[in-house]
Amino acid sequence: TPRVFSGIQPSGNLHLGNYLGALKRFVEMQNNGIESIYCMVDLHAITVWQDPADLRNATRELAAGFIAAGLDPEKSILFNQSQVAEHTQLAWIFNCVARMGWMQRMTQWKDKAGKNQQNASLGLFAYPSLMAADILVYHATHVPVGEDQKQHLELTRDIAIKFNHDYGVDFFPITEPVIEGAATRVMSLRDGAKKMSKSDTSDASRINMTDDADTIARKIRKAKTDPLALPSEAKGLEERPEARNLVNIYAALSEQGVDAVLRDLGGKQFSEFKPMLADLAVAKLAPISEEMARLMQDVTEIDRILQNGAARARAIAAPILDRTYDIVGMVR
Ligand code: TYM
Repeated sequence: TPRVFSGIQPSGNLHLGNYLGALKRFVEMQNNGIESIYCMVDLHAITVWQDPADLRNATRELAAGFIAAGLDPEKSILFNQSQVAEHTQLAWIFNCVARMGWMQRMTQWKDKAGKNQQNASLGLFAYPSLMAADILVYHATHVPVGEDQKQHLELTRDIAIKFNHDYGVDFFPITEPVIEGAATRVMSLRDGAKKMSKSDTSDASRINMTDDADTIARKIRKAKTDPLALPSEAKGLEERPEARNLVNIYAALSEQGVDAVLRDLGGKQFSEFKPMLADLAVAKLAPISEEMARLMQDVTEIDRILQNGAARARAIAAPILDRTYDIVGMVR
């Protein structure tokens, strides 16, 4: 039976890319009736320095974002990673299965560690091993993510294959990444060659889920574009990364294909298209950010939801970790 798992880091600045690439699709999966487990990966967040008060706040705000976007904590399991110790316990075993060379090839490691790898945390290096544990400790079969997580999911498959092979078992499933839709890689509004990211120093590069209507409209109005009109088919967006990005965002927000959007809007100038996009973005995002703000007024309720979710998650993870320990030969 299919089981979905995915995670988002509570490192602040939840943005439109996270929403379109991940959150919105989590809601679709939940509403298709698939058993879904969604995690605020606080242990991943601390692989780079997080101020403790900011981390606490970002975790709750992310939980509020999940719920505001439409995830129902009764239907789906919502929790934060550090409350289910089985993730880190399985991650240790995977640290002993995965190879240094596999980790060294990860582009996220290379990007985030930068030039001075000697000074990056050991946790940042081992990040993908914990991520594989997040998924496999539930025997999850499907993982909805944005394009940037594809390499990590390939590594998750490699770890499952090597574990199964080394111990001569058919135990961990080979997970399928689910990378679908028009917005699997939302780009920066300032630079069509860079992805929209929580850590970009320019706030104008992204639309935050907490931005108000005026801010959203202003950022879209100022978004970088080219001087041409919109083409009437997707082919005309090749070599036009900024234009393509805005059309992809429009398509994802309006739940249409890019071709359908261009059939309607081809020929329009950006001076006309941008206000349409801004209206659409505000209509879709403002209710979510308002609901987030409302939920954040009662953090005890959020904490209660995360605690309940953690208990339900643990009930699935614990027996799988137990069997893993048996396979590995741990005496208990
Ligand atoms: P994170 O927190 O960077 O991003 C959360 C999700 O948002 C997607 N995403 C984007 N999608 C489209 N366009 C963008 N510009 C964009 N930026 C981010 C990401 O692909 C992701 O789906 N390593 C993960 C968190 C994680 C995880 C897991 C995910 C930990 N364990 C297990 C799946 C399964 C991460 O850093 O995502």
